[in-house]
Amino acid sequence: MQSVIPDYLAEALGDVESDTSGEPADYIPELATADPELLGAVFATVDGEVYGAGDIDTEFTIQSISKPFVYALALTDRGFDPVLAKVGVEPSGEAFNRISLESDTGRPFNPMINAGAITTHSLAGPAGMDPQERVERVVRGLSAFAGRGLRVDERVCVSEMEHAHRNLAIAYMLRGYDILIEDPRVVVEGYTRQCSVLVTARDLAMMAATLAHRGVNPLSGERVVSEPVVRQVLSVMSTCGMYDAAGDWATQVGIPAKSGVAGGLIGALPGQIGIATFSPRLDPHGNSVRGVSLFERFSSDMGLHVMEVPAAARATLRSNHVVGSGPDAVRVLQLQGGIGFAGAERVVREAVTTAPTETRVALDLTMVYVVDDVARRMLLEVVRRLTLDGHQVYLVDPDAIMPDPDPGDGGRVTVVSEVGQGVVPPREAAPRRGRPEEGGGVPGS
Ligand code: DON
Repeated sequence: MQSVIPDYLAEALGDVESDTSGEPADYIPELATADPELLGAVFATVDGEVYGAGDIDTEFTIQSISKPFVYALALTDRGFDPVLAKVGVEPSGEAFNRISLESDTGRPFNPMINAGAITTHSLAGPAGMDPQERVERVVRGLSAFAGRGLRVDERVCVSEMEHAHRNLAIAYMLRGYDILIEDPRVVVEGYTRQCSVLVTARDLAMMAATLAHRGVNPLSGERVVSEPVVRQVLSVMSTCGMYDAAGDWATQVGIPAKSGVAGGLIGALPGQIGIATFSPRLDPHGNSVRGVSLFERFSSDMGLHVMEVPAAARATLRSNHVVGSGPDAVRVLQLQGGIGFAGAERVVREAVTTAPTETRVALDLTMVYVVDDVARRMLLEVVRRLTLDGHQVYLVDPDAIMPDPDPGDGGRVTVVSEVGQGVVPPREAAPRRGRPEEGGGVPGS
């Protein structure tokens, strides 16, 4: 059988192909020569599967799509506070090349507009780094996100530099406010090289997938940046990535995203996929016309909006039943899915309202695939309180989903493989600190 996803992508491309509105960017003369008919779309999953249709291996310059990644590098190299001291995180609601700074602090509003991006370029690498080495650091960092070595398109770089009057004006203004502390022209040259890095839609999808995969490149397995950095970058992408179209984007598409004037557009859906599209004709905001349409379609067809409410929390408690009778009876709370705060709250509430009369109580995690840290702490507190109320508590956890199941002060739990009668072989479990007891099945029924 052939996968349905490339067919879906090809169909989506077919639907937007006839839209020839917009124009390739021409304020960078070299970009105006792009073939406006080029069109491609790629999905890259967080486990490294890549699906694509159309022109997915055609190279074009990354332009502003470099901004979130270089912001990530600056946060990594300098730490949060020094970067936040120089660049804000507020949406500006203005065009990407607007010459403006926050009136009270003098900082650029955010790292997605040019003023902020020129500043974050200056913050990549350690303080005092030679500007040329800094560009190398940036290209290496972008390459790590893509999972392959990237290079600069010298023609586009020269072409942009010849017309970079506006970015130079921004940089001189930043120098005037001591946001930049070095030669503004040198910083703009470095930033322009950063924007001139060549990528394909496939590369961009993998870069987005690295963000979606908590900072680890799904193909190379390299941790490129830390999880807190990814969270910061995705937050800023979701509020500022589409400039003065950010509000429309947030409501209609709802995927943290970033566009570039060469026609690229990326979206990163945490825990799921990285998406990239490529089509050079731009709308008045500087975003790819067909790229925006494709993202709108992907989001609505596949429920990818990040504000879409997951069904999982409601379904955490699969059943609350009793196995066996008399003194052998076991009250079983059977859980399912991935458990976070809301799911754990449902279990806490069930334990309180049920007020089990049975001595034995089991939390059955057989159908659970993940318990996050807060849910783990809440479930273990339920175990502890049940113990203090005189219950004998079992955790049915054949796949060792619950890390370190130590309920703490006064709590006691026996970890078993299944609820039921007879002898059940204990599951293979490496001894874990605080795991008080291990056994086969909950005796009973
Ligand atoms: O600074 C510039 O104007 C370009 N190098 C990048 C602008 C860009 O990609 C805006 N995004 N849509």
